[in-house]
Amino acid sequence: MNQIKFKKPVVLLFAIIAFLIIYSVLISFMSIECDQAIIISDGFREIPSNLMSSRNIYFLETHNTSDHFLTTRAACSIESAALMNPNTNIFVLFLSPSKYTRLKNWSQFQGILNYKNIHLKYFNTEDFTKDTVIDDWINKGLLSSSWYQVVHTSDILRYALLYKYSGIYLDLDVIVRKSLDEIEFENFACFQDDREIVNNAILKITNDDGGVLGKMLLNEVISHFDGFDWSMNGPKLLTRVLKNYCDVTDFLSTSKCGNFTILTQELCYPIPWQKWDDYFTEQDSQKVMESVENSYFVHFWNRKSEGKMLEKRSHAAFNQLASKYCPHVYATNVLI
Ligand SMILES: *[C@@H]1O[C@H](CO)[C@@H](O)[C@H](O)[C@H]1NC(C)=O
Ligand SMILES: *[C@@H]1O[C@H](CO)[C@@H](O)[C@H](O)[C@H]1NC(C)=O
Ligand SMILES: *[C@@H]1O[C@H](CO)[C@@H](O)[C@H](O)[C@H]1NC(C)=O
Repeated sequence: MNQIKFKKPVVLLFAIIAFLIIYSVLISFMSIECDQAIIISDGFREIPSNLMSSRNIYFLETHNTSDHFLTTRAACSIESAALMNPNTNIFVLFLSPSKYTRLKNWSQFQGILNYKNIHLKYFNTEDFTKDTVIDDWINKGLLSSSWYQVVHTSDILRYALLYKYSGIYLDLDVIVRKSLDEIEFENFACFQDDREIVNNAILKITNDDGGVLGKMLLNEVISHFDGFDWSMNGPKLLTRVLKNYCDVTDFLSTSKCGNFTILTQELCYPIPWQKWDDYFTEQDSQKVMESVENSYFVHFWNRKSEGKMLEKRSHAAFNQLASKYCPHVYATNVLI
């Protein structure tokens, strides 16, 4: 008989409490969602002045999709740079046609998220090259006619990037073995062979020459871009431009001009591309580990090696290097 009757204010109070409970449950669900995804909402327009430094290290991911994928080995490269250079900003710049990119719960990313010095950013090409000599050329859309669009975009944008901001560019198939502060040269690249070709996978330009070299690289792209040859805008272009810059016809007796130094193959590309497989086979591992002992970098030639995934139990040199220089990525992935 004694029906409980609530007065209106009480009902309202209950309604408010119920709303708050539901709201907080929803919010906590949403933040779980966020924990499981990386959202690069932070666009790359300009590098904030507090992070600007010619010691910065840059990686470029130039697949033009909103579904960016970072391979395990690319994540390994990024982690190695961050691990060996804890006081250096590492920027990983993703080309993205959309405003922001949602990267799923990929294990590749879990390994690099703990590093405070890694900055993940998206960018679009037009913003990226604004105010450089290559601005108009980019806007004509010639890059999209290339047979090797991903590679050529990366080739060209690294020159624009270094010209604009100064710093060290690294390909996503380069493992960093040391602190790059140990390299005394302000501007450098490395021979990929016996002093004939200078590779552009590892390139530091600080523009202490007033931007002369950076501008020469971009002008060479404008006048001699070749969309049909894989390495034409990369090593071949850099080698050609450096010969002009240094005013030499070959590098047999010169490896330094102005403030630019070309390091020996052993320091950057200790295993030549023709022998890429040595990193991934057990019988060569001891020889390889000896060869890389003094190198700053290991370039594992992804174009050749990308199909060859390793199981953890393999003692191949790549596994030994990965467990040491990208321990988190190594631990959170089954195959590497
Ligand atoms: C990337 O793709 C979008 C459409 O998917 C296209 O509009 C844009 O031009 C592309 N960018 C480059 C640099 O190729
Ligand atoms: C996301 O990663 C966490 C651990 O890192 C895992 O527990 C969860 O199952 C993953 N979710 C998806 C959808 O893969
Ligand atoms: C080398 O760098 C210094 C600044 O560190 C600069 O003053 C000088 O002009 C540079 N030399 C050349 C040839 O670019």
